[in-house]
Amino acid sequence: MSFDLVLFGGTGDLAWRKLMPALFQAFRHGSLPPQGRIVGVARDDLSDEQYRSLIRSRFDQVELAKRPSAEEFDRFAALLHFLRMDLSRPQDYDRLAQTLRARGADTVVMYLATAPALFTGVCEQLAAAGLNTPNTRLVLEKPLGHDLASNRAINEAVRRVLQEKQIFRIDHYLGKPSVQNLFALRFGNALFEPLWRRETIANIQITIAEDLGVEKRGAFYDSTGALRDMVQNHALQLLCALAMEPPINAHADAIRDEKLKVLRSLTPWTVQSLGQHAIRGQYTAGRVGGQQVPGYREEPGVAPDSQTETFVALRCEIANWRWAGVPFYIRTGKRLAARDAHIVVNFRAAPHAIFDVPMGAVNRLVINLQPRDGLELHLLAQSQDSRHAARAGSPMLTPVHLNLDFTQRFGAERVGAYERLLLDVIDGRLNLFVRSDEQEEAWRWVEPLLDFWRHERNGPRPYAAGSWGPSASSAMIARDGFCWSEEC
Ligand code: BG6
Repeated sequence: MSFDLVLFGGTGDLAWRKLMPALFQAFRHGSLPPQGRIVGVARDDLSDEQYRSLIRSRFDQVELAKRPSAEEFDRFAALLHFLRMDLSRPQDYDRLAQTLRARGADTVVMYLATAPALFTGVCEQLAAAGLNTPNTRLVLEKPLGHDLASNRAINEAVRRVLQEKQIFRIDHYLGKPSVQNLFALRFGNALFEPLWRRETIANIQITIAEDLGVEKRGAFYDSTGALRDMVQNHALQLLCALAMEPPINAHADAIRDEKLKVLRSLTPWTVQSLGQHAIRGQYTAGRVGGQQVPGYREEPGVAPDSQTETFVALRCEIANWRWAGVPFYIRTGKRLAARDAHIVVNFRAAPHAIFDVPMGAVNRLVINLQPRDGLELHLLAQSQDSRHAARAGSPMLTPVHLNLDFTQRFGAERVGAYERLLLDVIDGRLNLFVRSDEQEEAWRWVEPLLDFWRHERNGPRPYAAGSWGPSASSAMIARDGFCWSEEC
């Protein structure tokens, strides 16, 4: 099968940080179809050779194991081409059309790694140049809009020129091996399904913590914030994977239908829950990994009086038979104590106590997503410790846990998120991409919170870089009698 992958934003940050390294890995692993061509598109005036040299120089910043040797790069570089385009000029789309028609590849992937403000215009121009053929696939990077209305406008514009099955909306969390393992855990094993419900589960916590700050993206981030950047997409997709009903098969729409139902069942915000179940924070200077780092407002590109949140903690509920009354907590932030994404499923205590158990010790399933991925199952066991055995009355149990480390089990050389997603686009598999109705439903749910924070006077709560966020986040969960995993 031959393909052309047209990379709009071909000299941009995403192209060299994520996409080129992922394409190279796919090439190295032999999984990229051999008849491929990658056409970088940007305004720069570059020849194919100059583009290849630029990409080659960028690989110096990629981790050593994923860097090509000179010989490997030369073979990979044969796939790389460059086309100069001004995205507002119709003539430039005609030139692109000529380039593509001259080759007549089986599949043409248009990857929009550009500012979202350009999405609508680019789609219209592609259609005007006759480039919306049945073998075209369009990849859209987040953020897709900044609220429900702008998201809808993009989706409508795109659907005017292409069918839904040709549109691949990326949420790179769905491409992570650890997140696919979550689907495998739930729907490939019969063990947990009978327990996966309100009768046995007390609460579920989703944490996506980053130790990095906003890096060089201060200006973008300052107009975005953690709710739009991480919660509306990545965290809600994790919530869907955790809470959805088993799909009838593994086809894209069967999975997406079930995820959509979860988003539709999220309890809407009320005046009370907006005040009590949503905490926002902003980092101040502190120490992360032994290094002193500046506060958010001192970062380049960030307004000195910025009210943008770099931390969010939410409590939400899913109003259906399986989950009614079970709190789901979501927490994400920049410059937290560690890069650590994990999910904790806390089970209810045994219904009748014949043993003594240490305070707070319950059965718990921890799903580690990154930096390592794996499962930990926390159980209670009878200790052989003579001090416990000697004590009169009920025997005291001790927490123990089973630990399954997928990174160790399957090796660190697994297919990365972007590699997996790019191969899926080329092969036309939509399972790991987000449908427009899912995306709109997620915006519909976060929008009241965006509005509330826009008008609320207090602004985000400060937290020191290197901490786990503002103390109000712990207080919120403590009101329900629970605690975040690092506090229990
Ligand atoms: C991106 C956000 O979608 O995800 C970034 O825009 C964030 O702000 C990144 O840093 C986190 O991804 P990962 O794969 O490093 O957890």
